[in-house]
Amino acid sequence: MSIVDAFDRMQWGTEDLHFDGLHFLLEQCRTTNAATDSPTFTLHKKRDIVDEYRKFFALRPDFHPEHMLEVGIFKGGSLAFWREILKPKRIAALDILPDPRDSNLAAYTKSVEKETIITAHWSSDQTDTSLLRRIAKEDLNGRIDFVIDDATHEYHATKVTFQTIFPFMPPGSIYIIEDWAWNHWKRYQVRNSERMKDRSPSELAFELAESTGSASGVIDHIEIYNVFIAIVRGRKPVTGDFDLEESIIRRPFYPYKWAR
Ligand SMILES: C[S@@+](CC[C@H](N)C(=O)[O-])C[C@H]1O[C@@H](n2cnc3c(N)ncnc32)[C@H](O)[C@@H]1O
Repeated sequence: MSIVDAFDRMQWGTEDLHFDGLHFLLEQCRTTNAATDSPTFTLHKKRDIVDEYRKFFALRPDFHPEHMLEVGIFKGGSLAFWREILKPKRIAALDILPDPRDSNLAAYTKSVEKETIITAHWSSDQTDTSLLRRIAKEDLNGRIDFVIDDATHEYHATKVTFQTIFPFMPPGSIYIIEDWAWNHWKRYQVRNSERMKDRSPSELAFELAESTGSASGVIDHIEIYNVFIAIVRGRKPVTGDFDLEESIIRRPFYPYKWAR
């Protein structure tokens, strides 16, 4: 069965989503906190981003990731969401939040364990490079086919995770950074000190484009959507630490007045 079929089985309400017997409350659409009588997951996605993912997977019918890493899972709902869509053999995930001890997530993890081994790391920071390497080696057997980073959406943290994990990815595998463009969205055009502590993640998107254009071979190509950027792994192996800067060639003659 193709990945796109899974998207076509989704039944959307205004505040929730029913999908293959699972019930997701859409955190960003909820206007009430009314209890529901069925076990629910919480999903931090609106329909527009899910529609973009459908478009993305429709272009690659042969892509079937076996080992997935998800960075930023809130209470774990997106783990169940992606597992139902992709049916990988292993999913590892992390979030800085403490373990929500959600019995629904525990029951789901148990119910799929013959098909998919799910490992969630709570109270875990996406910049913890030794943890990231341990997850890559121990939870995902040293090979990661698909990554979604939906955590801080901050330039430095996002780059640290990317540089640490990308070397574990084989040619053709895909690394997604969600919400890379928030600096350019109308609703963020307000002064907000929290959002001004770091460079914009779109500067990272530009560096990824620079690396691709430098024909470094580490990145095959990137695909830019409004709500996420997809980085497709190239053929060049990386040994030791990966520094994105070192994969970029820049002419030294660039007039300083145009430099960013
Ligand atoms: C947008 S939510 C993720 C939602 C989830 N992927 C979904 O689609 O439902 C972002 C998550 O990133 C987590 N986060 C924030 N800073 C983090 C960090 N430094 N390391 C790991 N996770 C972090 C937050 O706790 C939050 O759960």
